[in-house]
Amino acid sequence: MATIDQYLETHAQRFEQELFDLLRIPSISADTTRKADLRRAAEALAGHFRRIGLAVEIIEGDGPALVYAQSPRQEGLPTVLVYGHYDVQPVEPLDKWTTPPFEPTVRDGKVFARGAADDKGQLLTHVKSAEAWMAVEGRLPVNLKFILEGEEEVGSSYLAKFIGENREKLACDCIVISDGNQFAPGQPAITCGLRGIACFELILKGPNRDLHSGSFGGTVTNPANALARILAALIDADGVIQLPGFHDDVLPLSPAEREQLAGLPFDEDHYMRDLGLTALAGERGFTTLERRWARPTFDVCGLTSGYQGEGAKTIIPAVASAKLSFRLVPRQDPHKIGPALREKLAEVCPPGIAMELVDMHGTAAVHLSQDNPFMQAAAKALEHAFGAPPVFTREGGSIPIVSKFAQGLGVDALLLGWGQDDDNAHSPNEKFSLSDFHRAIRASVRLWEEFGRLAGA
Ligand code: BES
Ligand code: ZN
Repeated sequence: MATIDQYLETHAQRFEQELFDLLRIPSISADTTRKADLRRAAEALAGHFRRIGLAVEIIEGDGPALVYAQSPRQEGLPTVLVYGHYDVQPVEPLDKWTTPPFEPTVRDGKVFARGAADDKGQLLTHVKSAEAWMAVEGRLPVNLKFILEGEEEVGSSYLAKFIGENREKLACDCIVISDGNQFAPGQPAITCGLRGIACFELILKGPNRDLHSGSFGGTVTNPANALARILAALIDADGVIQLPGFHDDVLPLSPAEREQLAGLPFDEDHYMRDLGLTALAGERGFTTLERRWARPTFDVCGLTSGYQGEGAKTIIPAVASAKLSFRLVPRQDPHKIGPALREKLAEVCPPGIAMELVDMHGTAAVHLSQDNPFMQAAAKALEHAFGAPPVFTREGGSIPIVSKFAQGLGVDALLLGWGQDDDNAHSPNEKFSLSDFHRAIRASVRLWEEFGRLAGA
């Protein structure tokens, strides 16, 4: 292994430059004007695979292109599928970024850019580990396949369809995904569960134009006031979501898992301080980690109505809207949330308001079995690279394709997050520590070796 380690050291700076080149591409999947940038990101990644001797295809479909790559097939070795996403979240509010989101800048050993941690920096670690093996040994100790997509942040609809139609191409023994976080800096984690999600946009229309709030106030329903009342009715003061039947399918945490979560070295004060808060809140009766990872949520992700400029403007706005997300836990069906929400909205919507609810994407939660030889092998690789054994966690975020892989390929994902909770994913000043980047490449190098040892086992 010494020579692979040397290779990683010799090429460390180039790897960083390659990451920065990828981060310069504004591949925002939610923004329809960014199609050419998404395409450029796909081509850049295809170039990486080509240069290291993997067969690569750019697959066009209904949405941003997929990048598929495959190492030369070797009989008798396990086949590992690596998934990642090259699309990124929108960058607003722009004025909160210290340096522009698509001009990667290193400060204090961390690269700041949109997509640094989520997920370009993380996915590239597996590409670079494959490069190191190919360059030094001329081969990989496993059969490696990569499938990279450009619409994870908006629901992965094309890849979900592609899986159903390409089971053989994607067939594998294990799926590796690095698109999450370590438990704490230097404390690796294997993530055994992700929450699901159901997203909506609610639009309330009142009068046919903005009105003088003096001349008309008191006689018409103000859509912004109505929106506040409606949103407040969706969750009670104990943090319990108020949609009909919402809790029927919620899988409660087992006493054993509650004990496991309680045993994790979670520093609640540090968590609170990092967020600039003086108190934490959530569903009554649950701990912070339970609320974060294993309980459902309702959040308003965006609110729009009325006058947003400087000073006062006295109007009754004609329209008010909100973007909503419900995080879901195992057994909850994302398709049941829309009908339940419509039923509740119909009950609480005041007269004089025309209401429209737009269904956006949804995905189911996943709970992954720890009884999996690849997970045990991964634990060894993590311990080797981090000098500490991993803890077994869940995450509160969602990766829509994980449940689709399980359904379509019958294979569970192995979730190895290389990021940190304070990497500002989805926020201004997203970053990724370069030492995390290099350590993750070393872990990935070792991962393929440990998986190779499972051959014939
Ligand atoms: N990398 C995240 C998922 C994640 C976040 C995993 C935190 C572990 C910890 C992923 O890119 C993401 O943000 N997914 C979206 C999916 C949604 C838009 C369908 C999410 O969770 O909001
Ligand atoms: Zn994300």
